[in-house]
Amino acid sequence: MITLADRFRRHARMMPDGLYRTLLLAMAEDWQSGGVVAEICRDWAAAPGSAVVQLRLLAGIQRLVLSGAEPRLAVYYPNLGGTAAPDGAWQDFEPVLRRHVGELRAALAIAPQTNEPGRSVPLLLGLFDAVRRSGLPSVRLLELGASAGLNLLVDEFFIAGDGWSYGPATSPLWLVDAVDGPVTPVPFAVVQRRGCDLAPVDVSTAEGRLWLTSFVWPHHLHRHVRLRAALAIAESRPVVVDQASASSWLASVLEPPAADGVLTVVWHSITRQYWPVEEIAATAWVLGTARSRMPIAHIAMESPVFQNDRSEGEPEYRPAELTVQLSVPGGLADPEPVLLGTVADHGVPVRLATSP
Ligand SMILES: C[S@@+](CC[C@H](N)C(=O)[O-])C[C@H]1O[C@@H](n2cnc3c(N)ncnc32)[C@H](O)[C@@H]1O
Repeated sequence: MITLADRFRRHARMMPDGLYRTLLLAMAEDWQSGGVVAEICRDWAAAPGSAVVQLRLLAGIQRLVLSGAEPRLAVYYPNLGGTAAPDGAWQDFEPVLRRHVGELRAALAIAPQTNEPGRSVPLLLGLFDAVRRSGLPSVRLLELGASAGLNLLVDEFFIAGDGWSYGPATSPLWLVDAVDGPVTPVPFAVVQRRGCDLAPVDVSTAEGRLWLTSFVWPHHLHRHVRLRAALAIAESRPVVVDQASASSWLASVLEPPAADGVLTVVWHSITRQYWPVEEIAATAWVLGTARSRMPIAHIAMESPVFQNDRSEGEPEYRPAELTVQLSVPGGLADPEPVLLGTVADHGVPVRLATSP
């Protein structure tokens, strides 16, 4: 039987030396010896690996630091300018966890809200593919599990690679040299954009911005820069993210007929692993029935490991897959999702299997 301690250690092995690796190893020990980590995680011992309990806990701890509730720990967080060596950090963290057991238990209840703007790169490649093959450049963009909806702003970011670019070069967010493979941009216009999430984050509030920041690993300074740039864009371009589950929201949005000549794009990234199996099946059913009624592209960046494997065994890590399934009534209909490439967890780099 795989324990939480095994999962913490396994995740630590994938981390470079630094605060999170040290904390994950210390938390594994603490869980095993029945310490405060066992108390905080007591309802999560049987959770599947796809729930990534450790990310929920680390974000909860980071929130205590970002909010100023536990300022002494800031010295360990590179994103807050901290330079203290992490060796021995656990002796400073352990009493903090003890002081905030209730808060950290509550933190575990919400799936990681890593709203990663880097995932706009695979979204864009999927859009190029769907617009090119459908010949429909007017796009209605719908995102499932959108968190704060930052990736709905894909056309506000400057995304570029070898000999190609898309988006305004004046954008505060540049995502460059992040695709391994040839790309031919295809013009499109987003005529409508909207998302849903079980727990949407409102980034017009300081609390919402802090919440998203807490899920970015402290040593990933480039991702903190990326998030701040996306948040600056979202300030002047707010997007609507409805509070709803993926399947119920999608059913209601797709029920009325789509406007003529518009390509409906349903997109999601690193969210399906948190859905119950019924949610996965219901969403697939809603998408399947919409295919005969409107031009629709389903673009996904999801883990192939967690998609079908909900067993207790721990599957080997594999990168996320970028897939597109396009249907145009009376025209082409992909019988299966088409694999465009593989993607690192935070959206970049993308390794193309084919040229979009
Ligand atoms: C890791 S975040 C990814 C956010 C965004 N897709 C991205 O890639 O930046 C996972 C998101 O899925 C949401 N989520 C989990 N289960 C859901 C469900 N059944 N329906 C809708 N959203 C869900 C969570 O609340 C969370 O915001």
